[in-house]
Amino acid sequence: MTTDANRSGEIDPPARLMMGPGPINAYPRVLRAMSAQLLGQFDREFTDLMNETMALYRGVFRTSNRQTFLIDGTARAGIEAALVSLIEPGDRVLVPIFGRFGHLLVEIAGRCDAEVHTLETDWGTIFDQDRLAAAVDRVQPKLLAVCHGDTSTTMAQPLDRIGRHCRDCGVLVYVDSTATLGGMALPADDWALDVVSAGLQKCLGGPSGSAPITVSDRAAAVIRGRRHVEQGLAGPGAGPGPRPETGLRIRSNYFDLAMLMDYWGGERLNHHTESGTMLYGARECARLVLEEGLEARCRRHEIAGRALRAGLGAMGLALYGDPDHRMANVTGIWIPDGVDGEAVRGRMIRDFSIEIGTSFGPLKGRIWRIGTMGYNAARPPVLTTLAALGACLAAEGARIDPVAAIPAAAAVFERLPGEAPP
Ligand SMILES: Cc1ncc(COP(=O)(O)O)c(C=O)c1O
Repeated sequence: MTTDANRSGEIDPPARLMMGPGPINAYPRVLRAMSAQLLGQFDREFTDLMNETMALYRGVFRTSNRQTFLIDGTARAGIEAALVSLIEPGDRVLVPIFGRFGHLLVEIAGRCDAEVHTLETDWGTIFDQDRLAAAVDRVQPKLLAVCHGDTSTTMAQPLDRIGRHCRDCGVLVYVDSTATLGGMALPADDWALDVVSAGLQKCLGGPSGSAPITVSDRAAAVIRGRRHVEQGLAGPGAGPGPRPETGLRIRSNYFDLAMLMDYWGGERLNHHTESGTMLYGARECARLVLEEGLEARCRRHEIAGRALRAGLGAMGLALYGDPDHRMANVTGIWIPDGVDGEAVRGRMIRDFSIEIGTSFGPLKGRIWRIGTMGYNAARPPVLTTLAALGACLAAEGARIDPVAAIPAAAAVFERLPGEAPP
């Protein structure tokens, strides 16, 4: 008798070139690291790897924050951990919305029973930081929660001044850098950002499932005020029992950053079972960034994005959004009138095994999104994608010039040295 178990073979996914807004192809080195054998979570070899990973991510986040570690879960887990640990019911939180991921911050802050104040700007635009500063002065929130690169609109919000302003006003700043960490500059300490979290599946070139996070000392102090120790772990020297000394207990156990700090810190207080495989992968992602150098890495993303945009423009396609504030690593493209965007994406997969992104919300069916990040921020993936897109558009009857794209993109790579990945 045939059972489902013997019908299903060993896993063998098709070879795709993943040029959407993430996930993208992982670095082979990351995949190799993830195939290493497991260790016990309190094995000295493993805790050394945890400590190393913390140190590596301090380099990636450009921070000296002691509290720099991983949340087990996708990027959204990092966001949720930050917000649920910082926000107490009734706290005022300010969220600037310039795309879908601003709305996500509102949604999560709302679930924490925050008094949420929002600022909105049209999709495809960003906020002037003076406007953000004025809103901070007016609302006087406990927390400003903002996305750096919002993949839904492909826009990058400048954040180099607002953190300092918030620090002067005693306001904490949380930044979602899921889509930019390791591809666009975001120096947490220089920009005075208190909590920054990310995911692996974009510029860091790993799989989703681990969320690097960094927490400033002052944010850690706020979180520590809500610290308590689980009943079953409380014992001599473990600290406050089931109720925190000050502040309200954090409403999530899994995402309780105070507990996670105890787990990743010298106390090594038991919490979840850290995923060894994800730790190995996240560690390798950080090693790749630091080996290449953050500046070189950002430059590579910048060049790959520019080359892609030059090729798309030469082909006759119009780019989406404010040209001065595009993410380096994700580009939005208007789907030409009369062209079925999904038919083109379908052809790209069928004929070339290349994935490009669709979009959602008000942009559904109107733009494609192409990512040039991590392992794929390089000449061959960019030129291959342009060639394939030109062919698919021509096959769908679009009036474009598919031949012009490659020389235009190649010229950017020639003109701007620094493209090569490690
Ligand atoms: C800016 C941004 N934030 C958060 C997320 C959520 O990430 P995840 O799906 O890994 O939870 C994404 C995913 O695309 C994103 O682009």
